[in-house]
Amino acid sequence: MNPRIVVGISGASGMIYARRLLDHLSGKAEVHVIITPVAREIALHERIRFEDGDGIFHSPEDLASPVASGSFRHDGMVIAPCSMKTLSAVSHGFTPNLLTRAADVSLKERRRCILLLRENPFSRIHLENMLRAHDAGAVIMTASPPFYHRPEDITSLVDAVVARILDHLGIEHSIGGRWEGY
Ligand SMILES: Cc1cc2nc3c(=O)[nH]c(=O)nc-3n(C[C@H](O)[C@H](O)[C@H](O)COP(=O)(O)O)c2cc1C
Repeated sequence: MNPRIVVGISGASGMIYARRLLDHLSGKAEVHVIITPVAREIALHERIRFEDGDGIFHSPEDLASPVASGSFRHDGMVIAPCSMKTLSAVSHGFTPNLLTRAADVSLKERRRCILLLRENPFSRIHLENMLRAHDAGAVIMTASPPFYHRPEDITSLVDAVVARILDHLGIEHSIGGRWEGY
């Protein structure tokens, strides 16, 4: 049976990370998608499209969605990209929308919860929120790709980050680019 993965998309730059993550999850997982209103605006601006076929979409306003409950079993949640606002909400257990509620539930149920942060530089508040979320069980990642695989295009850069997310979710992929020494 395919794993069930929840993908949250919040309003940070880097919608291509969400796009490539959904591309790589396609056919390998039952994907539940929550996109915040600001994320939708930024996706329009960054010319990234999300399609019906990407997964089962849940309105961020729908706090009665099954995804809002600990009884909804899944194999991991990823927020990519994760804004500092959403990080703040997750790290403080503040759950005004379905995205933050689903992350809160993932943490309390001890399920994998990966936050792919996108901001630069980080303030002390951001750093403290990262530590809070980490200590509560989240995996903190940044949208900072490596270069040792000699990427020739943006997709290759983005995929190098997506590969680490998939590794943490335990989902097989063939992205490549693993460091094998000089
Ligand atoms: C074009 C654009 C790009 C943004 N990029 C970022 C970003 O990279 N990181 C971030 O933390 N916030 C960013 N923001 C600010 C967030 O969108 C804002 O804090 C918003 O309230 C986040 O809401 P959400 O997390 O519920 O989607 C950006 C906003 C806009 C309009």
